[in-house]
Amino acid sequence: MKDVKIETITQAFLDYCGEDTDPRTMFVLKKMVEHLHAFAIETQLSHSEWMRGLEFMYQAGEISTPERNEFVLASDVTGLSSLVDMIGSQHEGTSSSVLGPFHVTGAPEIPVGGDLKNDNDGATVVIEGLVRSTENIPIEGAVIELWQTATNGLYSNQDPVQPDYNLRCSMTVGKDGRYAITTVKPAPYKIPDDGPVGDLLRATGRNAWRPSHLHFIIQAPGYRSLVTEVFSSDDPYLNTDAVFGVRDDLVMDYQECRNLEELPDDLSIGRDVTVPFYKVDFDFVLVPE
Ligand code: BEZ
Ligand code: FE
Repeated sequence: MKDVKIETITQAFLDYCGEDTDPRTMFVLKKMVEHLHAFAIETQLSHSEWMRGLEFMYQAGEISTPERNEFVLASDVTGLSSLVDMIGSQHEGTSSSVLGPFHVTGAPEIPVGGDLKNDNDGATVVIEGLVRSTENIPIEGAVIELWQTATNGLYSNQDPVQPDYNLRCSMTVGKDGRYAITTVKPAPYKIPDDGPVGDLLRATGRNAWRPSHLHFIIQAPGYRSLVTEVFSSDDPYLNTDAVFGVRDDLVMDYQECRNLEELPDDLSIGRDVTVPFYKVDFDFVLVPE
């Protein structure tokens, strides 16, 4: 097509693509370019605005490292990551939510009832529940990974003061599908806002805070892996999560308890708990693969 016009450029792009392109790739690319072109036309995008967008991406590339991916963060704060999560999570099981950049593999395995609190400051929190199917069948052998911030709002891999793998573990559930862990209450924290994503948040009057949460990955043979987070119902940032990760079914109550008899019997720390302590009941519901 030698005479390309505003009205014909989208079709020209499609005509240039080879017929043997993988159909799904072609479909996604076609939709993306159609929407990009429509966006430029609808906004009457100026040269300087377009250059500002490209500069944002250049800066995102510059600040990214193997440990920090500013493009993922941009996807998170624009809601795209959560949208993709929700599209893939339209089922009866527990909702999925963002993985975030602070997951590391190789966390130590602890038994059901094991302790993550160790020497961490803060009140003891007991989290327990089942890993079960949508038919309410316990899922024996499900592996739970948990990672969270300390009470200072930092993950162990952000904080030189915390020991390696602090507040991180994996746990394999038995026949009854039950898990139980003692830990501390995580704290709200700001996502990294010293790069172009932070500039975007400030330019649009948004905050960088995430409500406090516990991250989980649950895996079991025959079931879809679940990447999710669990939030505290009393968190001040629950309605303004910078990355749109909160779902109704992922919000739970920290129940304040003063009676040591309310502790489960199988905790490795026994009854060596200061009062008040907190209890959280949360079941993970997996869907078949
Ligand atoms: C997190 O929860 O760890 C997180 C998620 C998205 C962006 C930054 C942090
Ligand atoms: Fe997090």
